[in-house]
Amino acid sequence: MSEFSIDGRPVPFTEGQTVAAALVAAGRVAWRTTRVGHRPRGVFCGIGVCFDCLVTIDGAGGQRACVVPARPGMNVTTGETMTTAATATTAATATTATTEEGDDD
Ligand code: FES
Repeated sequence: MSEFSIDGRPVPFTEGQTVAAALVAAGRVAWRTTRVGHRPRGVFCGIGVCFDCLVTIDGAGGQRACVVPARPGMNVTTGETMTTAATATTAATATTATTEEGDDD
């Protein structure tokens, strides 16, 4: 199994997984927050349409984690602090709730 890093922490992945798939498989469902309201975001559409999953990869900003294949050694940053598993669960619930109410980002 190979690894890349997100905010300096290792994330294992298997060949063929996207960055987002590897993050979710590792238990992380949110990795950034909205500019307005700081609401948690991770994968929403999973097909490159909604831009909820944006990350910076090897210095290139605005990359959609759900469509970029994971590669060994890639450096992924979020501009956020690491979300704990407990917070991530809350974040997933919050993302669903805010999406149903309308998005601000
Ligand atoms: S989850 Fe929608 S673009 Fe990545």
